[in-house]
Amino acid sequence: MKIGILTSGGDTPGMNAVIWAVQKRASQLGFQVIGFRDGWKGLMENDSIILSSDRTKEILSLGGTILGSSRTNPFKREDGLEKIKTALEKNQIDALVAIGGDDTLGVARKLHDEGIPIVGVPKTIDNDLNATDYTFGFNTAVTIATEALDRLATTAKSHHRTIVVEIMGRHAGWITLYSGIAGGAHVILLPELSIPMEKVAELVKTRYDSSEKWALVAVSEGYEFVEESPEDVGETDEFGHVRLEKRGVAQRIADYISKHTNIETRHVVLGHTQRGGPPTAYDRVLSVRFGFHAVDLIKDKEFGYFPALKGTQIIHLPLKDAVDQLKLVDEHHLRIAKIIMGLES
Ligand code: F6P
Repeated sequence: MKIGILTSGGDTPGMNAVIWAVQKRASQLGFQVIGFRDGWKGLMENDSIILSSDRTKEILSLGGTILGSSRTNPFKREDGLEKIKTALEKNQIDALVAIGGDDTLGVARKLHDEGIPIVGVPKTIDNDLNATDYTFGFNTAVTIATEALDRLATTAKSHHRTIVVEIMGRHAGWITLYSGIAGGAHVILLPELSIPMEKVAELVKTRYDSSEKWALVAVSEGYEFVEESPEDVGETDEFGHVRLEKRGVAQRIADYISKHTNIETRHVVLGHTQRGGPPTAYDRVLSVRFGFHAVDLIKDKEFGYFPALKGTQIIHLPLKDAVDQLKLVDEHHLRIAKIIMGLES
């Protein structure tokens, strides 16, 4: 058998560990693996490399993806589907592994409907895929954001400042919530929990009025301002997503707090630091489990599925379930954020 593999969407710590695992399990079964560069783009352009064990042997702990990634949507490109079919035929690919988030798995599902033998591997640092308890990359992102909050706390405290920290999370505030709790943020702002700016300023002011003259505000880049105007969106990618960092969420909140409280307030955007560098041990293990499972699905000719974590088990689910529903921060976790902020009696 010949397996094609690609990584698509935002890079995620653990992607290389999945590639490592797919190569390892595939070669054990006597299968060959070919990698396509830069996601669906490389597949459409037939840009590939052979993934021998020599090529993958040192990538388990490496951040990013050795294959490169892009946010290309083949169904938005002229003859995208035909180009994919041609490349698969030319390379005599028997099965494809697509590592990606909801957009990538959405494309994989459409390709499966077109008769292409494909399995998915879910990834996103945002951890917002409802079908799996955790995605790899999330633990790494939370660890990095927590460390950043730890570091910002000491400088904020030394200068009696408030620091607003912008954390990734397009639709869901999981990274902000987890790192906000672990890193001791005093205010936690999530897309799922709209708190008006006056209240945010009041929370910071109340803290300064007590003995503590410093504060950390953790805000998710997808946080919705109650007063935001609808035209405030900016450019979108091929899947229709806005570049969230252009909204300047942290800066706007910091400016608001400074203006309305006279407290010196700075902002920090953690940005791609959260996605770069080596995955944590947890993410490496999850990636390897997903990778092995994906190859076993191929071995059993169970196409149109993806591995998912349910409790402590790896199961597999149909690709349509991957894109069915976003996993937003639930009531239990929202309550924790509210208790931390003193908003829940
Ligand atoms: O979806 C993962 C993610 O890291 C989001 O948290 C973030 O909004 C987005 O990707 C950024 O993507 P890009 O690097 O393509 O701008």
